[in-house]
Amino acid sequence: MLIDSFNRTIDYIRVSVTSRCNFRCLYCMPNTPFEWIPHENVMRYEEMFEFLKLAIDEGVKKIRITGGEPLVRKDLDKFVKMLHDYKPELDLALTTNGYYLKKYAKKLKDAGLKRVNISIDSLKSEVAEKIAQRDCLNNVLEGIDEAIKVGFQVKLNTVVMKGINDNEILDLLEFAKNKNVIIRFIEFMENERAYPGIKRVDSKEVLEKIKTKFSFKELPKKNEASKNFMLEDGNIFGIIEPHNEEFCKSCNRIRLTAEGYLIPCLFFTESYNIKEAIRNGDIKKAAEILKDVVKNKPEKNDWQEEKISDRAFWETGG
Ligand code: 5AD
Ligand code: SF4
Repeated sequence: MLIDSFNRTIDYIRVSVTSRCNFRCLYCMPNTPFEWIPHENVMRYEEMFEFLKLAIDEGVKKIRITGGEPLVRKDLDKFVKMLHDYKPELDLALTTNGYYLKKYAKKLKDAGLKRVNISIDSLKSEVAEKIAQRDCLNNVLEGIDEAIKVGFQVKLNTVVMKGINDNEILDLLEFAKNKNVIIRFIEFMENERAYPGIKRVDSKEVLEKIKTKFSFKELPKKNEASKNFMLEDGNIFGIIEPHNEEFCKSCNRIRLTAEGYLIPCLFFTESYNIKEAIRNGDIKKAAEILKDVVKNKPEKNDWQEEKISDRAFWETGG
């Protein structure tokens, strides 16, 4: 078991398989050029798998594949299958911008992926394009439908930004209700690479807005980042509020980047290289590094102190 210094059990790893992306979202990497990381710097699937086996043997139960945009890396279904075959009961999930999902959903489902979170920040094509800096809405909508069709558990993620998409909260909620999927409204996490003008909308304001049209009640907190609510018709929605004092108390995760760094907390740039140990076949060393990462996981992020993170979100996913 992996237990940190604040008695939190770490049983969840988020794995970024690539830092590349076909979008340029305002909150993530609006100005990042399309540069190529030398091939040899990126961990091969087999190398990630070597490390993840170790983590699974230490009690990790859930693995989420993120990016960049994970579906721009080829053969992702093969990586999913490796993990699924190693431990079929693993909770295997993917976070994607949805653009290529129509093409890959069925393959991923067959490989053993169970759940998919899809980002959707607007239902208006010009606003979606302004946010992602790509004409994307149609593909994303088709991706959502395909994911539902092939039988994934689907959740939607919306980063709410003042003056950009905060007038669509009710429409997005209706949209999710009609598709029978959970939508989570995420507070923008301030970071150095984001577009300078972006202002977050506090989850409190999101709830106020929803209250103008719906009644809902808070559900008991489960082991996930979101706080969930049930509408009168039984549909569920969530909020993700990293600026809340309580947010980090239930944190159960660490992250692995495509270049082989383990990251204890999304806010901080502190990282631990695991790639060398894996490449050298030194599993004992890799296990020690994993223990160190868990031991040094900070108690909480600094967004609660209204600070701005130096972290590049495309290296870790959100
Ligand atoms: N703030 C909040 N959420 C973010 N994400 C990425 N960057 C940020 C940020 N700065 C989340 C979004 C995105 C997913 C990959 O990660 O939901 O769609
Ligand atoms: Fe790409 Fe996701 Fe970053 Fe948007 S948030 S630019 S989809 S990695």
